[in-house]
Amino acid sequence: MVFIIIVLLNLLIEASVSLTVVVPPDPIVAHVGSTVILPCWISPPENAEALEIRWYRQDQFNNPVLLYNQGKIQDVQEESYRNRSSLALRSDQSGGLKYGDVSLRLEKLRVQDGGLFHCYVSGEHSYGSEEMTLKITALGSAPVLSPESLDDGRVNISCRSSGWYPEPSVSWTSDEGRVLRPGGTSHTRGADEMISVHSWTAVSLSDAQLVSCSVSLRPGELKEGRLDIQGIVCSDSSGPWKALFFSVLICSLLGSVWLIF
Ligand SMILES: *[C@@H]1O[C@H](CO)[C@@H](O)[C@H](O)[C@H]1NC(C)=O
Ligand SMILES: *[C@@H]1O[C@H](CO)[C@@H](O)[C@H](O)[C@H]1NC(C)=O
Repeated sequence: MVFIIIVLLNLLIEASVSLTVVVPPDPIVAHVGSTVILPCWISPPENAEALEIRWYRQDQFNNPVLLYNQGKIQDVQEESYRNRSSLALRSDQSGGLKYGDVSLRLEKLRVQDGGLFHCYVSGEHSYGSEEMTLKITALGSAPVLSPESLDDGRVNISCRSSGWYPEPSVSWTSDEGRVLRPGGTSHTRGADEMISVHSWTAVSLSDAQLVSCSVSLRPGELKEGRLDIQGIVCSDSSGPWKALFFSVLICSLLGSVWLIF
């Protein structure tokens, strides 16, 4: 009997001393400008209302993204997170602070928010801490394709798109899904860290009629633009003036050759 009581006491003491904090194992991915919740909770559940909850970036323990203690959120947040961070529910059923849910909500995400976040929970006799990675991505604008006729009868097609993060990859394909080799691709980073991309490829009508430029971060996260070069080489559709000039020229040349035969 005494033995059982000692074991129970031990269990109680251990339970009150150890504090286990849990975060998801995989990075959280979110878009620039959106709101994200970084889940973090105490397991087994324990009322966190009287604990200290500190969310901070790498090496910024004293300059936290959010600090909760003495029952309220303290006004010592890092300047760039002021008004953007709050405590949130990781799910509708979590029960909130009372049941150990200490998740962080971040609003109006910026590229600079990407990186490690520490979830630190501390009681009188113990603390628990875990870290997680937030990955920020931005899906850029729909690519704009513009043609320019080359002297050799081919068309130099440029593909431009902006507002990407991180650096996207560009691929060119023809109407039959055949891969076209880019002549060159360059990335430029703006002051806001967002990346613009420019790629070009030179094609002839025998290579392709419908050319597509696809800019992507990863499978499923892409923007695509298409251009029908047949319409540029041999029609009077409204293309840029130079292209139009060459189209008309080439079309009339072809017409003359046809007439001569
Ligand atoms: C935070 O919000 C308050 C009140 O809405 C405002 O006065 C303050 O300027 C904001 N701070 C920042 C850094 O945006
Ligand atoms: C195609 O156009 C791009 C600019 O849009 C240029 O940098 C490149 O040199 C051109 N290629 C050829 C073969 O003219």
